[in-house]
Amino acid sequence: MNSKNYYNPKGEDILDEKIYGGSPTGFVDFNRSKYQWDSNIYDSMNANTWFPSEVNTSTEKKNFNQLTDNEQAIYKMTFAQLSFNDSAQEEYLSDFRRLTNNRLVKSVLSLQIMQEVNHSKSYAVLLDACGNSDEVFNLYKYDDALNTKNQKIADQFASYIDGGSVDKMLLSAMASVNLEGIYFLLGFSYIYLLGDKVPGARDMIKFIARDELNTHLPLFSNIFKTIQKENKIQTNTIDSAYKMIDDAVKIELEYGKYLLHRYPIMGTTEELMEQTVYNYANDRLKKIGLDPIFTEAPTTYLQKLVTKHLEMNDVKSNFFESNVSNYAKSSINLDDF
Ligand SMILES: [Fe+2]
Ligand SMILES: [Fe+2]
Repeated sequence: MNSKNYYNPKGEDILDEKIYGGSPTGFVDFNRSKYQWDSNIYDSMNANTWFPSEVNTSTEKKNFNQLTDNEQAIYKMTFAQLSFNDSAQEEYLSDFRRLTNNRLVKSVLSLQIMQEVNHSKSYAVLLDACGNSDEVFNLYKYDDALNTKNQKIADQFASYIDGGSVDKMLLSAMASVNLEGIYFLLGFSYIYLLGDKVPGARDMIKFIARDELNTHLPLFSNIFKTIQKENKIQTNTIDSAYKMIDDAVKIELEYGKYLLHRYPIMGTTEELMEQTVYNYANDRLKKIGLDPIFTEAPTTYLQKLVTKHLEMNDVKSNFFESNVSNYAKSSINLDDF
């Protein structure tokens, strides 16, 4: 490895470091940010720091045992899939970080990597309390639909991560917009539908969802828009980005509908799922500066459930009550554009 990767006194000024391409000096200086959204997101991530041990899981096993058979299946199949998302995202982020030139953006990605590991740990803590950790983490071996969703997500991550061009890096960022903004959403909704029946799972998902939607999604939306702004991107690359989110919508609905048909529970329908995922996809497109392409419906019940749990003032745990002032910080503008 060239020592200039670590220290390059003749490198470009910190304020000139672009996301793609360049030669940084090697310093991480939070007082000199080219973008500002990067250090805002970093502060917001830090302010929202939480640990799985702070969620009360002492009654999880008892609560789980009181669920109906279908509810238990939904619980297990949801965590089996969500836990894959976070495991894959940690590995992907380490690879994506290597494609990045701007050192401050890399620092924010480092913190995101830590948070994804924290999410993996939280699934282990929750499922251990529930007494079905081994079973849930092995479900991919026995369920084709679960295996297929995981594989398709992995394929999308792998498609452009080798880098080599700015267009490939942009599409690689798109894979993460999909991960943070699409692939978790029906899983979150399913756990919120179970809600008070499994408060341990609900609270754990609440904290994970805040990380994914309040900071990780804005981070990758900003990365996507900044790469586009700083470089000349080919038209067919943007076409590919649209194709990727269209694929993501199909992947999310395929698994969501599979669970709905196989393990019907109260509170959702096929149409509701479609409207929800289409609305989310349109929102993600707008967030990255592209045009919405899906049929838009009024905000759905499932969206409202997810949004309700993103609010900071309804948190009941002591840990969060003691950090209310920190949460105020997370309302700062995370978008420079
Ligand atoms: Fe995560
Ligand atoms: Fe994330």
